[in-house]
Amino acid sequence: MASVHDFIHSAYTQTVQSGSFTWSAPSNIALVKYWGKKENQIPANPSVSFTLSNCKTITTLGFKEKQKSDKFSFDFLFEGQPKESFRPKIEKFFERVEEYLPFLKDYDFTISTQNTFPHSSGIASSASGMAALAINLMSLERLLNPEMTDDHFYKKTSFLARLGSGSACRSIQGSVVVWGEHADIEGSSDLFGVEFPEAVHDVFKTYQDTILLVDKGEKQVSSTIGHDLMHGHPYAERRFAQAHENLATLKKALIEGDTDAFIKITESEALTLHAMMMTSQPYFILMKPNTLQIINAIWKFRQETQLPVCFTLDAGANVHVLYPENVSVEILQFITSELLGYCQNSQYICDKIGTGAQAL
Ligand code: PMV
Repeated sequence: MASVHDFIHSAYTQTVQSGSFTWSAPSNIALVKYWGKKENQIPANPSVSFTLSNCKTITTLGFKEKQKSDKFSFDFLFEGQPKESFRPKIEKFFERVEEYLPFLKDYDFTISTQNTFPHSSGIASSASGMAALAINLMSLERLLNPEMTDDHFYKKTSFLARLGSGSACRSIQGSVVVWGEHADIEGSSDLFGVEFPEAVHDVFKTYQDTILLVDKGEKQVSSTIGHDLMHGHPYAERRFAQAHENLATLKKALIEGDTDAFIKITESEALTLHAMMMTSQPYFILMKPNTLQIINAIWKFRQETQLPVCFTLDAGANVHVLYPENVSVEILQFITSELLGYCQNSQYICDKIGTGAQAL
């Protein structure tokens, strides 16, 4: 079984003075949700997500060797401009991963990053952002240690991304990614995400995710606080067990192409996530009235047309509408005629299942 010791590297065979890498890393949308964690970003339950394709972060990491000191040295640019408010996050990430990347204090870094989605869209950029940063740092480690296998490169990238933001570990490699140990998923680990190890039915390979931007404001409660509120939550243990059951059922649906079972699990998971928020102490609600309007409209449309469309939610008010490509004409027609009125400034983003991070 994988252990944190697999990711500690002490001696490098090469030296590198300077250079740069650029990678893009996508966002992902969870079907079985991660909500609740233990120490060191270990998830309280396993989760599975579709990797997205269009919503991504593109990050260039420049590096130049310096005299080793006891401080990290980096400049951070967001869309070409220095962004001081991001520095503490990166600083904290560097502290968490230094044990695994002992070269971090040997370089001056320039981290230059941009998102393909609007930054005030309410779409979390922490998954794609941390994934893009982690894979750039791993590219440098691979220069220092060229014998590294591809398998190790991607596993360790996911391992490091997890320490930045839990869900980021599902944004590295693969279209359907499982994170967290599960009895029925071979190779699954609490330490990193793994590609769903079985062949996914063709219908799920074409899945579309149209993200309806219901509320683009800053969330009232961060996911860090939300995860924390699962400690001592009255329903926590049952919920964590349920996630295991749901992942087992979803596994079967993904293999068999059973869209009905997929819909049942995916929608129930979304509502359960929000039910956990509403039943924590203190309680909170991240859905907005228009979130519910959209959900009801989707249920009505599905009832009338029998088309395999469903929704999921992340920790916010926006709605992800999921459906296979072969019904996209009908669904987009439904979205534009009936759902855009519930979106802020009629805004939405068309995304679909993707494959993971890419070197640029
Ligand atoms: O990765 P975090 O700590 O931002 O948590 C993400 C939590 C959810 O998006 C709500 C669910 C998930 O599995 O992605």
